[in-house]
Amino acid sequence: MRTGVWLVGARGSVATTSIVGALALRAGLTGPTGCVTELSELRGPAWPSFADLVFGGHDVAATPLAKRAEALADAGVVPARLVAALGEELAAVDDDVRPAPVGGTQADRAAAVVADLAAFRGRHGLDRVVVVNVSATEPAARPHPAHADPDALAAALAAGEEVLPPSSLYAYAAFTAGCPYVDFTPSTGARLPALAALAARHAVPYAGHDGKTGETLLKSVLAPMFAMRHLAVRSWSGTNLLGGGDGATLAQPDANAAKVASKQRVLGEILGYVPQGDTRIDYVEELGDFKTAWDLITFAGFLGTGMRLEFTWHGCDSALAAPLVLDLARITAAAHAAGRHGPLTDLAFFFKDPLGPAGSGPDAGATADRAPGHALGEQWARLAAFAADLHAGAGTPPAGGAA
Ligand SMILES: NC(=O)c1ccc[n+]([C@@H]2O[C@H](COP(=O)([O-])OP(=O)(O)OC[C@H]3O[C@@H](n4cnc5c(N)ncnc54)[C@H](O)[C@@H]3O)[C@@H](O)[C@H]2O)c1
Repeated sequence: MRTGVWLVGARGSVATTSIVGALALRAGLTGPTGCVTELSELRGPAWPSFADLVFGGHDVAATPLAKRAEALADAGVVPARLVAALGEELAAVDDDVRPAPVGGTQADRAAAVVADLAAFRGRHGLDRVVVVNVSATEPAARPHPAHADPDALAAALAAGEEVLPPSSLYAYAAFTAGCPYVDFTPSTGARLPALAALAARHAVPYAGHDGKTGETLLKSVLAPMFAMRHLAVRSWSGTNLLGGGDGATLAQPDANAAKVASKQRVLGEILGYVPQGDTRIDYVEELGDFKTAWDLITFAGFLGTGMRLEFTWHGCDSALAAPLVLDLARITAAAHAAGRHGPLTDLAFFFKDPLGPAGSGPDAGATADRAPGHALGEQWARLAAFAADLHAGAGTPPAGGAA
C-alpha cells in the first residue's frame, strides 16, 4: 500500500526527524525503537511498510531538509552518520516539500493545497495520502459562525472571508482532497463542527490532538496509580523547560495558553477532581530539543498522612515524537483503507487531548460511542483492539476473491 505522508511543517524538528527515521528504517540503517506499530501486540498486515511511505509536505521555511537534519545531528537529536548516509534520499524528499501557499484568499490557499496533494498522489502513484500537522502551535481559534456547518464555511470562503486558522485550513484542504488528517499539535485543526461534517461527507478519518511524549505521558501513567490506590492527590505542579522552534513558539503567550490547556485536562479527567497546582512551560534556548520536566506531587494516604513524589524527565522531544508520527501515519492509512471514517477515538493512546466521538453518529468510528479517557493502560487496550480489528480485516480476502 503506497502511502503518502504529507507533513504540514515539513522542515520542522519533528518532521525532519520523522523523515530521517523512516528513510533510515527503509535502508536498514536503524531499528524501530519507539514505533509502537512494530510491537508484537500491534504488528500486522494492515500497516503499510516503512518502505511504502513516501514523504512530502508544506512549510513556510525554505531551509533544505539535509541542512535541517545536519542541525539536528549537531544538536544530538539524530545520529550524524545517518544524515551523511541519507543525503540523496533527503534531497529527493525536498523536491516534494512545497512552499506553504501565501497570498490570495483562504479559498485560493485551500485550493493550492488540494492541488499540491493531488499532484503528489499522482506523481508517486500513491494509494492514499495522510496529511499530518506538525507545524508550529497556533493560538486558539477565534469563534466564527461559519465554523458551525460545511455549507456556511464554503459560503464564507467563497466570499473571500478569512475564517479558519492555518491548521484548520489544512484540515479543510485534506478532507476536500479525500485525505485523512492527523493533528500532532494542540492547534484547532479538524476540531470544528463544519470540518467534522466535511470529513463525514468525504468519508475520511482523522485523529488528534497534540502528541503525548513527555510530562503528560507520565501523568497518564501515574495519575491512574494514585486513583487505583485511593490516594488523594493534593497538588500537582509541573515546570517544563525547552528550547528549539517549539520552545520559541510556546514562549508566545497565546500559543503557550493553548498548550497548557491541552496538558491540564489529563489530571482532572483521570482523578475525578482537580488538585492544586499549575503546569508551566518556559523557553530556554540553550536546551534545544531536549526538554526537562520537573513535577512535584503531594498526596495524602490513610489517616491523612502527607507524602510526596517528585520526578525529573529529560526527554529529546523530536526523538520521542517522530516514531509516533510514523505510527499514526501507518495506522490512519490502514483505517482509511478499511473504510473507517470520522474521529479515530481509538488512537487516544498517542495524544494529550484526544478527540472524542463526533456529535453525529454515522461519521463516528467503530468504537467511537465510548469516551476515550486519558489513562495510558486503557488507551493501550483500545489501541490494541483497534489494531487487531484492522489486521483481521486486512487478512480477509475480498468477497468473491481467491482464498
Ligand atoms: N516534539 C514533541 O514531543 C511534540 C509533542 C507534542 C506536540 N508537538 C507539536 O509538534 C509541532 C512541531 O514541533 P517541532 O518541534 O517540530 O517545531 P518546529 O518549530 O521545529 O517546526 C515547526 C515547523 O512548522 C513550520 N510552519 C510554521 N507555520 C507554518 C504554516 N502555516 N504552514 C506550514 N508550515 C509552517 C515552521 O517553519 C517549522 O519548520 C508543534 O506544534 C509542537 O507543539 C511536539
